Amino acid sequence: MNILLVGAGGREHALAWKIAQSPLLTRLVVAPGNPGIAKLAETRQVAADNVDGLVALAQEIAADLVVVGPEAVLEKGLADRLEALGVPCFGPTAAAARLESSKAFTKAFAERHKLPTAGFVVVETPDGIETALDRFEPPYVLKADGLAAGKGVVIAADRDEALAAAHEMLGGRFGQAGARLVVEEFMAGEEASLFALCDGKTALLFGAAQDHKRAYDGDTGPNTGGMGTYSPAPVLTAGIEQVAYDRMIAPTMAGMAAEGSPFKGVLFAGLMLDRNGPRLVEYNARFGDPECQVLMLRLESDLLPYLHAAALGRLAEMPPLVWRDTAAICVVLAAEGYPDAPIKGAIVSGAEADFGPHVMVFHAGTAHDAQGRLIVSGGRVLNVCASGATLAEARDQAYAAVAAIHLPGGFHRSDIGWRALNG
Ligand code: AMP
Ligand code: GLY
Repeated sequence: MNILLVGAGGREHALAWKIAQSPLLTRLVVAPGNPGIAKLAETRQVAADNVDGLVALAQEIAADLVVVGPEAVLEKGLADRLEALGVPCFGPTAAAARLESSKAFTKAFAERHKLPTAGFVVVETPDGIETALDRFEPPYVLKADGLAAGKGVVIAADRDEALAAAHEMLGGRFGQAGARLVVEEFMAGEEASLFALCDGKTALLFGAAQDHKRAYDGDTGPNTGGMGTYSPAPVLTAGIEQVAYDRMIAPTMAGMAAEGSPFKGVLFAGLMLDRNGPRLVEYNARFGDPECQVLMLRLESDLLPYLHAAALGRLAEMPPLVWRDTAAICVVLAAEGYPDAPIKGAIVSGAEADFGPHVMVFHAGTAHDAQGRLIVSGGRVLNVCASGATLAEARDQAYAAVAAIHLPGGFHRSDIGWRALNG
């Protein structure tokens, strides 16, 4: 099979690494990829949000399947364009991707289909802010409606802070993405990420992971795209997973199909767990980054036939997925200044050493300079991943590799996995 994989991050490096192992693969082209991906696949300099360029590339290489990593190009309709041309695409249409691209859509959908989630109010004008806040107790949760690169959520400790944030959001801080605002009930509990492969009709659970969103140790500092993950997530027991499947994933698949937007691709449910069971924090229409990295390390089955079956609507015919009986961890090495203003250009050394069969270093924000040296080109630079018989073993291997990599000015969290390791 000829495969076009879209994206340039650690998630896509992990997907490329897994797809490259498939006996079904003839040719793997990644657009635009990164220096790590370039070692195991062809890379082409077409931006991950250039719909026309990606459609042309898929046709040029006679792609049997296009696998889409990031969300922005889904919102722009890449899957719709490919579907119209008869090219199978693993990723939802723009209408189905609203589960990620519009929080107001998703909250209303959750209400229509009775999914367990926080109560909410949609606010469209500044006059609506005060009455919306009256409905809730502090802390207040405010969300820009549209895609805001993970920065569209404010948890305000008191009313003054909430008012200021709400006015700022509606005042254009997030452009069109902030034209509407969702105010919702604060949910306390522990978060976990649950994944399902979907083909429009059938959803197949695809494992779970826990992310660490805050920049610094002890869950302090600003929110980020994710500083590290581990899988499995013991907090998400098989029982809770089944409840999430029955009360969220399955009704979401059925509801999207019934409303004319069947969902294909990865449904990523951000869950809040407390003693009342799982509640939905948000949906994403893609793999998590860096959740995907640890899932790929644990997956024994060949991924490619599942992605292809999902794109063709044939997941029901597939045998159960097989997972390794191991734990996996991912530690993100971030650039100085991440997440607010990452500084690019520092020279990275030691990342290409051989750390043995249980360690993988997936590239994210890296590039080569004119002299061919590996340099920092983005906020999250490298994902140092390891697997082991236990999470503690995986953690020790990952941090041994972290210690051997030099990223001037950079930082990482030293406590990835603490919930599962101390619990
Ligand atoms: P989201 O972009 O919707 O995932 O929100 C980002 C983060 O904000 C989540 O991972 C949670 O930590 C937090 N969050 C979002 N919604 C809520 C809520 N209703 N209650 C508590 N925390 C929330
Ligand atoms: N790591 C969280 C996300 O991909 O949204």
